[in-house]
Amino acid sequence: MKEKYPLIAAETAHMLLDQVKGMTPAHRGIDRQAYLFDDYAVLSTRRLKLRNVDVRDDDLHYLDELIETLADLRNSGIHVVPILGYCYEQESPDGEGFLFMRRAKGEELYDDALICRYETWTQNQDDEYLTSDADAAEYIVRRTHEVAGIPQRHFDKFISDILTILGNDILIDFQGKSNFFYDREEGFQFIDLDSHTDNYYGLTDNVVSAEAWAAVGGFVPCHFGAGTKAFAHLALDPNAIREIGETGIKQLADDNLRIFDKCVRAMKANHIKDTVLQNTLKSIKVFGQ
Ligand SMILES: Nc1ncnc2c1ncn2[C@@H]1O[C@H](COP(=O)(O)OP(=O)(O)OP(=O)(O)O)[C@@H](O)[C@H]1O
Ligand SMILES: [Mg+2]
Repeated sequence: MKEKYPLIAAETAHMLLDQVKGMTPAHRGIDRQAYLFDDYAVLSTRRLKLRNVDVRDDDLHYLDELIETLADLRNSGIHVVPILGYCYEQESPDGEGFLFMRRAKGEELYDDALICRYETWTQNQDDEYLTSDADAAEYIVRRTHEVAGIPQRHFDKFISDILTILGNDILIDFQGKSNFFYDREEGFQFIDLDSHTDNYYGLTDNVVSAEAWAAVGGFVPCHFGAGTKAFAHLALDPNAIREIGETGIKQLADDNLRIFDKCVRAMKANHIKDTVLQNTLKSIKVFGQ
């Protein structure tokens, strides 16, 4: 096992690893399982040597660079959750191992495992995504109401941090609402930052400005409606949301429009140009609009 612990004591990392062996993960991703401790999160992975799914990083040069950038950003007040270190089997093809992080404060902006029940992309899947989760309706309505009540200054900081993170060529995965955390004191935080942008790796000459990107991704706190072009597969499916019931849907739509309004204000407060914003609004349909 090869190890590198720039921001965590090796003894602490070893102690956490020992405990992970006897634990069941709190969250399962596609590739990862998350084990949560009071102050730390340990993520198992089979693909430590891959950046953004298929960019090879066999000597982990890019990952090391990323760890440094995240630490610098954190030190300058950007709400990224830093990676503290990692260990992995050097011989494994894609890098089986563990990432050590600080535990993000608060909870996921939305728990994808619950809200995906209502999203377009799960509608033609088998039962895997449509397990009888009795609380999904209660959850989406309650959580959306909570998000709608988040103070404007936290939305402003969210957009400002997005611009800085993208401006540092770090990829933000806006397709997962669980990649963002929210805490009343801390505000929004960013996890799942383990890759630079395609552009950084020379995969495309098509440079999307941080501003244009933020103007789309920054709407991730909203739910999207049928027919949206951006975030199409995350659109709430009209048949699926029917089970929420009329009162719940009305509340959801009202709260969602309040969230949308706060996102727009935050973008304006961060000087995202009107032309850029108007362009986004052509491709986004927000639920309830
Ligand atoms: N630092 C952290 N603090 C608290 N919870 C975390 C942290 N990192 C991960 N988690 C939890 O684990 C979940 C999955 O983590 P993450 O988003 O990094 O992986 P993933 O989405 O499975 O990644 P992939 O896209 O590679 O499959 C998160 O949505 C969150 O619930
Ligand atoms: Mg994720």
